[in-house]
Amino acid sequence: MTHRDDPQNVNQMLGMEIIGRWIEKEWIPSRPEDDLITLWIDEISINQAVIKKLQPPFDVDGGYQFEACDIIDSPAVVAIHAATYNGELTYRTGTYLFRFRHTDSGATVEVLVAATYHTDHGDLVVLGCMPEDFVAVWRSFEHECDRMAHPRARVTVIGGRAGSFEPMVSWDDIVLPDQLKKDLLEDVDSFFTKGIGIYHRLNLKPFRKLLLAGVPGTGKTMLCNALAKWALARDYLVIYVSSADQAGSTFGKIQHALHVASNANKPTLILLEELDAYLHEQEKALVLNVLDGSESFDNECGTLLIATTNYPEAIDERVLRRPGRLDRIYIIPEIRDPDAAERMLRQYLGDMWQDNHAEVAHKMVGFPGAFIREVAVYALTLVAHDDLKELSADLLSTSYQRLKEQIDARDNFLKHRRNGNTVGFRISDN
Ligand SMILES: Nc1ncnc2c1ncn2[C@@H]1O[C@H](COP(=O)(O)OP(=O)(O)O)[C@@H](O)[C@H]1O
Ligand SMILES: [Mg+2]
Repeated sequence: MTHRDDPQNVNQMLGMEIIGRWIEKEWIPSRPEDDLITLWIDEISINQAVIKKLQPPFDVDGGYQFEACDIIDSPAVVAIHAATYNGELTYRTGTYLFRFRHTDSGATVEVLVAATYHTDHGDLVVLGCMPEDFVAVWRSFEHECDRMAHPRARVTVIGGRAGSFEPMVSWDDIVLPDQLKKDLLEDVDSFFTKGIGIYHRLNLKPFRKLLLAGVPGTGKTMLCNALAKWALARDYLVIYVSSADQAGSTFGKIQHALHVASNANKPTLILLEELDAYLHEQEKALVLNVLDGSESFDNECGTLLIATTNYPEAIDERVLRRPGRLDRIYIIPEIRDPDAAERMLRQYLGDMWQDNHAEVAHKMVGFPGAFIREVAVYALTLVAHDDLKELSADLLSTSYQRLKEQIDARDNFLKHRRNGNTVGFRISDN
């Protein structure tokens, strides 16, 4: 039997034709004031999980808001079938009426959506009938529906203002010694893959603590972001403890993060930036309890805490040296060699890079990555300002000199204020 001869299939083809005809003969003529057209549309708008999430009112393009979605009486042939996936309802055929309201004028627009199966493999055909000038708005609505159907994994934020964010840094964009990046990633990976079993066998809680230490602007936050992306791709839970709110760096946030981790039932990565700020007198003992593992919380699937600090000298020797408090400390260095400086500058100059920029790049060995980025951004601003076609090595050099002078001036100023004590902590290379 061929595909076309399959009686069920023929029925479905017929079903589609009947709805199409019903739309043309009955639906459109009963709304003569609207300039309606019928078109094939994406099935995403009748995805049941999406419909559930679409809590109206919901902003779409063109100043419209989505208001409601109702199932209406349909021609007899549009049988109601429901498709399920993993026990969840995915699509339901039938006839729907979507309603949108223009927020300024209050005018409403109705979109008729009729869905039926098109083949016996469960392919849907979905017809939409809407005013012709509403098609672009509908497309943007479909786009929103699509985003809801495929939520991208996000980092959970504790504290701060954002509830969650999507990490965007790729591992390859981070310019640091290859060996360092490799060690760090292997450390993280092997904890979650092999480490957990070992902790269990030794009857220990699978809780590991790493510290990334380095002067400001060396890429610690970038590393956290890239590791968050890596972990989310494995469906791990990632929690970012933020001090960017009025409460600041409080132990309560760390405790909250651990609590979420212990209920997660998933391998969990906790990112705790600027650990030094949490070690203030009032709460230091509490934080140390956590690092010691005496704070009672448990996540069988493993919790990895990655803390960062710009000021390791502000962290007590007892924290840094006492075995078991921090399992490993990674020193994140400034740019160490001409190759890395060049790579970094190339990355931030993009198309504007020229080979004769290399000599300027080489002067930037010893500076943190953020400095090189600033030099590049400043140079590109000068190019844009003067509407130049290219960035000369001289202009790049000027940009470098100016930023360096600013930093020197700031350092001198701080040195005076602190009575001769330097504040910028530099971790020595040895
Ligand atoms: N190692 C690096 N590789 C690439 N870019 C870097 C690096 N270090 C710093 N940057 C640039 O400087 C910015 C600030 O770095 P960040 O990760 O916030 O530093 P930190 O957290 O160590 O203070 C980054 O967003 C990036 O643009
Ligand atoms: Mg940082």
